[in-house]
Amino acid sequence: MVKNKNKKRPVCLVTGASAGIGAALAREFARAGWDLALTARREQPMIELAQELKQAFGATSHIIVADLSKPGACADILARLVKKTTHIDGLVNNAGYGLTGNYTENDWQAHKEFLTVMLEAPCEMTRLVLDDMVERGFGRIINVASLAGHVPGSRGHTLYGATKSFLIKFSQSLNLEMQEHGVKVSALCPGFTYSEFHDVNQTRAAVDKLPSWMWMSAEEVAESGFMALSRNRAVHIPGTPNKMIAVLARLIPESWALKLMSRNSEKFRKDKK
Ligand SMILES: NC(=O)c1ccc[n+]([C@@H]2O[C@H](COP(=O)([O-])OP(=O)(O)OC[C@H]3O[C@@H](n4cnc5c(N)ncnc54)[C@H](OP(=O)(O)O)[C@@H]3O)[C@@H](O)[C@H]2O)c1
Repeated sequence: MVKNKNKKRPVCLVTGASAGIGAALAREFARAGWDLALTARREQPMIELAQELKQAFGATSHIIVADLSKPGACADILARLVKKTTHIDGLVNNAGYGLTGNYTENDWQAHKEFLTVMLEAPCEMTRLVLDDMVERGFGRIINVASLAGHVPGSRGHTLYGATKSFLIKFSQSLNLEMQEHGVKVSALCPGFTYSEFHDVNQTRAAVDKLPSWMWMSAEEVAESGFMALSRNRAVHIPGTPNKMIAVLARLIPESWALKLMSRNSEKFRKDKK
């Protein structure tokens, strides 16, 4: 059981809790004695997850259906949450997706919504919950970034790696700023993970050809990420193969790394029509 200054059980808000890594992280927090606030667009999977968390761990879950690409979504989620619980002690900025195709294949509206979900929402949500965490001297924040934030840019999914690099740097700075306030901040950087991600962005056929050593389950990623948060690791890459890929990307000359990405990114960036 986690210790904080509240008499009540701590509450963690998880975005993108209806599937994959978000649902798995919600399980990790519940296992450790937290209550949950679950948010995503689809309600039914969150209802089922809430029932599971109650049965398995005795956790109470508050469900907020919301679309993070819509203006004002973060403030609205928190306003609705305040009516259900008085405190938010943890935040998992996890909601995300991939936008396939080269930059000019998507219009500005699609890119704008992507940036809203992937960048603006994590930054805004963090800003909105942080003052209370600092005041209470207790907080836990995970920003779900990606191994893509550690390797050079690739053809297709043009903004994806850039948003994940941003989240890594953001988490590092915040981790340092929060050290004396009892708030732990960690960027979790998974590699290929079994979830709905590649079905949603229609790259399943392509990524299924990748070797099994490149994959982790959402549960493995979440368990490893939760442990890294408790150790206050500013940046965490789960899985040895993923760690090795990140180290390699740092060690080899950038021109080689770009060539490698150019050759290999076609394999997992888009299904052939
Ligand atoms: N899977 C991988 O290989 C992988 C690797 C590295 C990093 N990641 C990162 O891990 C995070 C979770 O992805 P995942 O693999 O668990 O994918 P997933 O199974 O597709 O889950 C994505 C979650 O994000 C939510 N979401 C998407 N768009 C949203 C929106 N506009 N508003 C609110 N919620 C939204 C989805 O819920 P609804 O559809 O119900 O709204 C869902 O709960 C993402 O940030 C992703 O970039 C994934």
